[in-house]
Amino acid sequence: MHLYVANDYQELSRRAAQLFIEAVSRKPDSAVVLATGDTPMGMYRVLTEHIRAGKLDTSQLLLFQLDGYLGVSLDDPRSLEGWLVRSVLKPWGIPSDRFVRLPEDATDTDLVCSQYDEAVRRIGGFDLAVLGLGPNGHLGFNEPPAAADAPTRVVSLTPESLKSNARYWGSQEQVPRRSITAGMDVLLQARHILLLVSGERKREILRKTLFGPVTEQVPSSFLQLHPNVTIFADRAALPDEAALSRSS
Ligand code: PGA
Repeated sequence: MHLYVANDYQELSRRAAQLFIEAVSRKPDSAVVLATGDTPMGMYRVLTEHIRAGKLDTSQLLLFQLDGYLGVSLDDPRSLEGWLVRSVLKPWGIPSDRFVRLPEDATDTDLVCSQYDEAVRRIGGFDLAVLGLGPNGHLGFNEPPAAADAPTRVVSLTPESLKSNARYWGSQEQVPRRSITAGMDVLLQARHILLLVSGERKREILRKTLFGPVTEQVPSSFLQLHPNVTIFADRAALPDEAALSRSS
């Protein structure tokens, strides 16, 4: 794992965007799975500026939704697909035929989950996964315990995720109880994983992610076994151990 430490959130967003630009410039038809949540929004905004300035060509990019809340329609303000449409697809000019959804309003969830995994398999896996870090170590909504080979599926949110997601929607009561998430299997098979971690409240889970035992109880700990993970953390999120041993 490569750990880059930024002074603050702005720097983290700029450096992560730079890595994204380099990856997509090398392979313009990259298949990329993108998180919502607060942390990657700064990076997406930097990328929007580059795209609008004509400095990044997105005409061949294929994007995948990472996760969503089950039972939420697209026009519900809590739809994570809607969030991705507003923050990425529209500003980047990505048409719907280059976006693979995880439909939050699906009734046959087994079918849509297997179709998603099949779509990822057909294109040969993700080139890049842009992920945030849940306070319980979830990646997407792979809530603990999550096996490294867990498929794309429906998952009940843990109390920790209900609590941390409450800040998006005003209260815990507003947070849907179930989610649909890209599985650990397809995420860990991504050729390059970019993990963005910001703020003091992530310090303890970043410590477990980097230095704790590899365990289903901390899904992000499986990143220790992946050959190509880049973590961008700001100083506030940096555990003491990482400050001593960090690579940059
Ligand atoms: P955040 O969410 O980026 O809003 O902190 C991360 C997550 O819970 O996966």
